[in-house]
Amino acid sequence: MITVSDVRELRSHVDAWRRGGNVAFVPTMGNLHAGHLSLAQAARQMADRVVVSIFVNPLQFGVGEDFDNYPRTFEHDREMLQGEGVDLLFSPPVEIMYPKPKAEQTKVEVPGISGVLCGASRPGHFVGVATVVCKLFNMVQPDIALFGKKDFQQLMVIRRMVEDLAMPVQVRGIDTMREPDGLAMSSRNGYLNEQERTIAPALYRVLQNIGDALQGGNDDYAGLTMAATKELNQAGLQTDYLVIRRAEDLVEPAAGESRLVVLAAAYLGRARLIDNIEVQR
Ligand code: PAF
Repeated sequence: MITVSDVRELRSHVDAWRRGGNVAFVPTMGNLHAGHLSLAQAARQMADRVVVSIFVNPLQFGVGEDFDNYPRTFEHDREMLQGEGVDLLFSPPVEIMYPKPKAEQTKVEVPGISGVLCGASRPGHFVGVATVVCKLFNMVQPDIALFGKKDFQQLMVIRRMVEDLAMPVQVRGIDTMREPDGLAMSSRNGYLNEQERTIAPALYRVLQNIGDALQGGNDDYAGLTMAATKELNQAGLQTDYLVIRRAEDLVEPAAGESRLVVLAAAYLGRARLIDNIEVQR
């Protein structure tokens, strides 16, 4: 596996690879777990060459969030990616990604969808995500890019950006990897202490219960989410949001809507956990 931090060197490899085949790209912020590896494995199946990036993006963290403490485990990550047959690891320093001060940096904003749910709780977060992903796409120039469905809203923001800006990249969403007790894998699970870790699977459990009710024809969206929020808070989580939305555009659904997604974010100790389940009925 080639490791590069320089854009010219990155492009010289990718340009050569794209002449004879296609290239898949998995952007990450490092601290890799089995969820990230499943993206690299899917990328391997879809393309001749696989590029992974590791960059902890300051632009997507708000004031008081965990940018400084975000776990950085570069050597371990590199070994894991090597084991997955990744061709190139791109890990640019912050001066390459953002040579100018934040106020002078050109930014990408995907309106509407970026302002709700996680975007409402974390103002500016999705501008940071869209900007860094746009820039990484321009640097790597992949044919395919893979993102985890755990970050459902992020995936929608990226799909919308790619469509609106006519970027020549196919975006693929990959199913969430879960621990045996159902907890969605996340770098932030490492913030949980032993007791919090036993509480955390409640998040997926309540989503599943809502999913079952929706499948059974229950359309009382407000009643379902209110009861589940109460259950989560009683379990010891502090619910940020728990909603049922139309899967297509995250708009509030009408009764009888067939493609739904149940999304939740909740605080537990130092961690902000997010999860979702899609429901097709
Ligand atoms: O999902 C993530 O890890 C990040 O938001 C991403 C897509 C790598 C952008 O920094």
